[in-house]
Amino acid sequence: MAIATATTGDGWSSRSAFILAAIGAAVGLGNLWRFPTLAGESGGGAFVIFYIGCVVLLGLPLLLAEIFIGRAGQTDAVGSIRRVARESRVSPAWTIFGWIGALAAFLIVSFYSVVAGWVLYYAGVFAGDFVGALAAGDPFRGALAGESQEQIATRLTDLFASPGLLLAMHAAFMGGTLYIVARGVSGGIEKAATFLMPAFFVLLISITIYGAFVGDIGEAAAFLFTPDWSALKPEVMNSALGQALFSLSLGVAGIITYGSYIRQGTRLGSTALAIAFADTAVALIAGLMIFPIVFAVGLDPAAGPTLVFQTLPFAFEAMPAGALVGMLFFILVLVAAITSSISLLEVPTAWAIGELGWTRHKAALVFGIGAFLIGVACLLGYNVWADVRPLGWWSLFADTDILDTVDGFTGKIMLPLGALLTSIFIGWRADRRLLETTTGLSRPVFALWRFLLAWLCPLAVAIILVTGLFPAII
Ligand code: PHE
Repeated sequence: MAIATATTGDGWSSRSAFILAAIGAAVGLGNLWRFPTLAGESGGGAFVIFYIGCVVLLGLPLLLAEIFIGRAGQTDAVGSIRRVARESRVSPAWTIFGWIGALAAFLIVSFYSVVAGWVLYYAGVFAGDFVGALAAGDPFRGALAGESQEQIATRLTDLFASPGLLLAMHAAFMGGTLYIVARGVSGGIEKAATFLMPAFFVLLISITIYGAFVGDIGEAAAFLFTPDWSALKPEVMNSALGQALFSLSLGVAGIITYGSYIRQGTRLGSTALAIAFADTAVALIAGLMIFPIVFAVGLDPAAGPTLVFQTLPFAFEAMPAGALVGMLFFILVLVAAITSSISLLEVPTAWAIGELGWTRHKAALVFGIGAFLIGVACLLGYNVWADVRPLGWWSLFADTDILDTVDGFTGKIMLPLGALLTSIFIGWRADRRLLETTTGLSRPVFALWRFLLAWLCPLAVAIILVTGLFPAII
């Protein structure tokens, strides 16, 4: 039986449903695409260890703070913050970070869907290739047999040069996201997560085992876990902090929104721990899945954003059963992406239901179409609008195309700002008794949580924000 919440009349049917949905929200392109890309570019070990520190000391306390706000507020992010502020007898102006979060989520889902569209395209290419392998009676051959590395690399540049194809993929992905969100919390989001997340884990583990057999897992593990501290430059620390926020879906009110659908009496501390653990484990396993394959065929781990779209396909060509595994890999990424994009679209949708009294269908449709249109601008930035620099007057974004501008503006400014305000609000302003009774933490854990939120989080997040805005100072 779903538990009714104040405004939506809908909710998770169990604690495990919430955990699965929240893990689905957290695990996404951030884990499978951005984390390996950053780890590869930043020299591996030192970045990875610093990243884990960020998750434990900053991510986990913030995650619990957002779950708390949602649980205590029982409605959309803005309404939930308003309620916690009222019960704590502080200014309702704190709702500002709910607004920032809802706007950030809306903007992120627009370009997230474009990138997920590339994944969809590759899933299609590899599925077609696998069908070809089957038809040829050789199901265990490598992928894209006979293509040169140049031809494989050109697939990505050709895709970017084709607005129609990008648009079709983006439309399909956003359509799927919209469909699930429109069906509601227990009937759409929860159903999707409880079906897709187990499938995700089976695929993840299978491909990792495959990589360990055919690839060089020893070299990959050494690369990921042997720290070379000289690689830990300020910009690397900065991107590790930012990545921890992004990967745990913090600062965009997504976890507040999901938290509002939780039943009374759920233990919030262990729930937050489970989500942070799973998200970090998936990022590390993604590294242990991707790098053995990359190293086995002598490719460069520091390829950057094209690691997954160009480097890995080369590797799949050279590997036994690469056609099959390549197809499964892109399906895996697609599954992770859709359970995240639904959580992003849910934030503005819940906001309009709670604050404006819209129906779920109307809200999902308006924000889904709005984000779709912004995404169209992002994808045109790869071809017909390649010269457009939306914030070109600002030195930070002077040479940044449309998609990277939306990504950079949300990731470098809105997310840290949302996280900063959340930590100050919960660390300093929220009513202590409300915090204690809602979270049910033991005394020492509660004290540690409050301390981290009051001191370490604001400080560290302020540093990300300032150095992100003024890179010249580091
Ligand atoms: N955490 C998601 C990922 O790693 C992205 C995301 C950010 C989803 C913010 C929801 C909210 O891909």
